Amino acid sequence: MASRHQHNVLIIGSGAAGLSLALRLPPTCRIALLTKADLNQGSTFWAQGGMAAVLHSKDTVDSHVTDTLEAGAGLCRREAVEFTVSNSRRCVEWLVDQGVDFDLREAPRSRLRKEFHLTMEGGHSHRRIIHAADRTGRAISEVLTDRVIAAENIEIFTHRVAVDLVVNDGRCEGAYVLNEQSGHVDLFQASSVVLATGGASKAYLYTSNPDGASGDGIAMAWRAGCRVANLEFNQFHPTCLYHPKAKSFLITEAIRGEGGRLLLPDGTSFMQNFDERGELAPRDVVARAIDHEMKRLGADCLFLDISHRSPEFIKSHFPTVMARCAELGIDISAEAIPVVPAAHYTCGGILVDNHGLTDVAGLYAVGESSCTGLHGANRMASNSLLECIVYAESAAQHIAENLNQLLRSTDAALWDESQVTDSDEDVVISHNWDELRRFMWDYVGIVRTNKRLRRALHRVQLLQTEIAEYYGNYKVSNDLLELRNLAMVAELMIQCAISRKESRGLHYTLDYPDLLPTANDTILTPENSPL
Ligand code: FUM
Repeated sequence: MASRHQHNVLIIGSGAAGLSLALRLPPTCRIALLTKADLNQGSTFWAQGGMAAVLHSKDTVDSHVTDTLEAGAGLCRREAVEFTVSNSRRCVEWLVDQGVDFDLREAPRSRLRKEFHLTMEGGHSHRRIIHAADRTGRAISEVLTDRVIAAENIEIFTHRVAVDLVVNDGRCEGAYVLNEQSGHVDLFQASSVVLATGGASKAYLYTSNPDGASGDGIAMAWRAGCRVANLEFNQFHPTCLYHPKAKSFLITEAIRGEGGRLLLPDGTSFMQNFDERGELAPRDVVARAIDHEMKRLGADCLFLDISHRSPEFIKSHFPTVMARCAELGIDISAEAIPVVPAAHYTCGGILVDNHGLTDVAGLYAVGESSCTGLHGANRMASNSLLECIVYAESAAQHIAENLNQLLRSTDAALWDESQVTDSDEDVVISHNWDELRRFMWDYVGIVRTNKRLRRALHRVQLLQTEIAEYYGNYKVSNDLLELRNLAMVAELMIQCAISRKESRGLHYTLDYPDLLPTANDTILTPENSPL
């Protein structure tokens, strides 16, 4: 039997944004926290590099702001950048108070004064990436998860897949949620609902992201009437491991920050031919350079070499990368790592204000599913964990101030399954998954053209029709829900890309190679938007 749950706040997603938001709410607030699989399986857990913050005595908020604005290629919202960066130190302190163990500088006196080891990444003009070796996301995720489990006001629901939001009289008051274990779709009601569902890089055939990155929050918010923005800017990480057995394994940019060189198959370095910042140019530049060289040479991959650093240095800074490569027979202290670019981060998303509030009252979005204006046309490395923690705090404050909001839809209907049956052909789902991810890679990838985008639009619209028919006739499953969401977000990405008649940041098209004189956001508005 489908069941009904009532809480003050419903948080969908259990990465850095969802977990920290839950912990920032007052203990009197009853919270339901939903996760699609088990805890500790989302994108945060896999983040290697770190979190950017102004911590070095020679670094300044202004400098971090300037670097972020420059990487964002004219499309960052300055107010959002200043808001995020000026809160960075405080957010690091909060994480440390929660128990996150960031790496300290090796000098003995740094242990007394807590001087953190700060690494470099592309686009940053200072060392400002605080990290826990190359498993920063894991360190944050595990600590916050333990705190959430210990909190008496937070109820955790695992293996729950949100289907759609409940909107009543213009206010979001909950969600229908598939319980994968019982197979029923339950109703979760709350006076505030938070989407912390991550990005949509799973739309691409090759991605650094774990399986759940299917744009669920973006698709649900769009269906609920929220505007979305800048979805043409999907970031490709320049270096994912190229190996038949290495699904989605990232080679952290911090390796380039510590002197790693990108090499062609014949061992020559090439980044200096593309940008004077070489290996530490922003990601869009590096990914395009690699793509260009791979296409020019017909190469399956290029190489990243850190073998000039001592094995001890490599082992202490990059234990995760070293161990995973060793499992596959690559000794990174002696040889170069085969790498290719892969879809990594969704810079656009659900439009929100500085509290993470969307266009629909009672509905918030935080982290990668949102578009705060911080990233503009290209996210600077390691700014995203920071965004999660800063906006989670600010959304929690706003929610706490409005906690007395009463549920209007106490009698909202339970999910009706009377018209659907069990699917008899799941192959339709797996076929459409493959097709979607392949044409997105081929036609909406690092280099685009009008013709490729139009082809992709045609394909995605056919897929959407087929998926809608399937959804209307059969019981929902995780795979079907993710496919439905991903196809919808893929269409939004393509629509955004088609409407941008220039090359800016991560959006590069051979048909409009130049920058337009004014930078404008691409904003899409659904028909049922309250605005
Ligand atoms: O390269 C990395 O470790 C990734 C960092 C990021 O995406 O911010």
